[in-house]
Amino acid sequence: MSSTIAELESRRAAAKLGGGEKRIAAQHAKGKLTARERLDVLLDAGSFEELDIYVEHNCTDFGMADQRYPGDGVVTGSGTINGRLVFVFSQDFTVFGGSLSERHAQKICKVMDMAMRVGAPVIGLNDSGGARIQEGVASLGGYAEVFQRNALASGVVPQLSLIMGPCAGGAVYSPAMTDFIFMVKDSSYMFVTGPDVVKTVTNEVVTQEELGGAITHTTRTSVADVAYENDIEALLAARDFIDFLPANNRAGVPERPTSDPWDRIEDSLDTLIPPSANQPYDMHELIRKTVDEGDFFEVQPAHAANIITGFGRIEGRTVGIVANQPMVLAGVLDINSSKKAARFVRFCDAFEIPIITFVDVPGFLPGTAQEHNGIIKHGAKLLFAYAEATVPKITVITRKAYGGAYDVMASKHLRGDLNYAWPTAEIAVMGAKGAVEIIFRGLSADEIVEKTKEYEDRFANPFVAASRGYIDEVIYPHSTRRRIALGLRKLRNKSLENPWKKHDNIPL
Ligand code: HXC
Repeated sequence: MSSTIAELESRRAAAKLGGGEKRIAAQHAKGKLTARERLDVLLDAGSFEELDIYVEHNCTDFGMADQRYPGDGVVTGSGTINGRLVFVFSQDFTVFGGSLSERHAQKICKVMDMAMRVGAPVIGLNDSGGARIQEGVASLGGYAEVFQRNALASGVVPQLSLIMGPCAGGAVYSPAMTDFIFMVKDSSYMFVTGPDVVKTVTNEVVTQEELGGAITHTTRTSVADVAYENDIEALLAARDFIDFLPANNRAGVPERPTSDPWDRIEDSLDTLIPPSANQPYDMHELIRKTVDEGDFFEVQPAHAANIITGFGRIEGRTVGIVANQPMVLAGVLDINSSKKAARFVRFCDAFEIPIITFVDVPGFLPGTAQEHNGIIKHGAKLLFAYAEATVPKITVITRKAYGGAYDVMASKHLRGDLNYAWPTAEIAVMGAKGAVEIIFRGLSADEIVEKTKEYEDRFANPFVAASRGYIDEVIYPHSTRRRIALGLRKLRNKSLENPWKKHDNIPL
């Protein structure tokens, strides 16, 4: 072996050791994989091509001149997931706690720039003590360079963040600007200021886990989308997830073979709706029975479960699904569910993913808590998102579509392309009893019962809306998949453009 090749090999070997055996053992002792082990799980075997393996920091303060590690705490490059190109960075906690230096940031920016140029997703594996304290403002500048690229890449290439260790201070804002965040339970956390600062400023005593762990962020805050038990589970989920996403905003949805017949009939759906309008049923059943092979990747399953969002496929091609969930709060629209679904609809629209909407919604949630926290502004987010979306939109009303929520949920009036209803649909301004109590104030109890029946007979069906063309067809529940598949075929070359504008002004 020539001496130059030997030197190359020894340099590579040194870089691959990161912060050294002891720190790798400490990482493993916490139940965490190293930066490189994570990439091995995430990417197809042998597909990873590393960049900038020899980059070192340029800091000389605080004794840093003597502490240099090739790669400088982040492993960057590209690889494939089931054969499709992705760009990656994986922070190495064994090198200065994965903290972000100027050079570390430059490495991340380089892969983000390449991903944007070629049109491929960026996946960031975050495990970092934040800004490299020894570097001061150079590190803050590095973060801002990454933030800037997050904003420019938004809506151009999908960006996925996996939080697999600490993520604190301003560092949380890069993942926050990406499209989706997965967290690992018990070993990852995100907060702007940690428990010690919280104690000093507000006197609250809180653990890292309570303040910003995976459960907190996937249930309460909705900062993160899904929580996983460990690194491997999160990384394998990321592989499945990327399979659903287009490579970029012009590539179109990925297509993969399926043996599930497009016209599969699901007789059980004919009895999905219970006899009483107040009885719940699980909307997941309809979703699973509609998509290819029942394969549905749910986003934010633990937050605002009164609306379901996620990805499935029809005839092998990705669709985004938004569905009211009668099992939780009767499927009502409230602040959290509106925000959750609005962001999802906007992602689908940005990346040309058709949207299927299943509607069973009793309206917006009443109450001072909702009004005073801004249901008007937050509900408007979902309305706005559907109204601006130009992707194919197919809507199926299974049961209730009441009031403003009827309008919001991808109605014909918001440029729904195909609006179907099951025979069990009830499309009205509100439930019959409430309506009668308002329009016939002062009637006796018996008269109210009679008028309620009259109102139900008149409006608790899909045919009034269908007679106006607001519903294109009343379909058999068992044929839902078939009708959606046919609709999507028709809409494949849909072309619809909004008026030119710099950008819109969605109520943030
Ligand atoms: C430099 C750091 C570092 C940092 C950790 N290390 N954080 N080095 N800059 N920010 C180093 C440690 O010195 C140590 O080095 C190694 O990483 C592991 O750290 P430990 O503390 O031993 O690990 P652990 O006990 O697991 O604790 C992890 C931690 C803690 C919770 C992340 O290290 C920590 O609190 N770090 C500081 C976090 C912080 O305040 N960051 C700045 C946030 S402000 P050795 O040599 O012993 O292995 C910010 C602003 C961004 O990020 C603004 C953007 C707009």
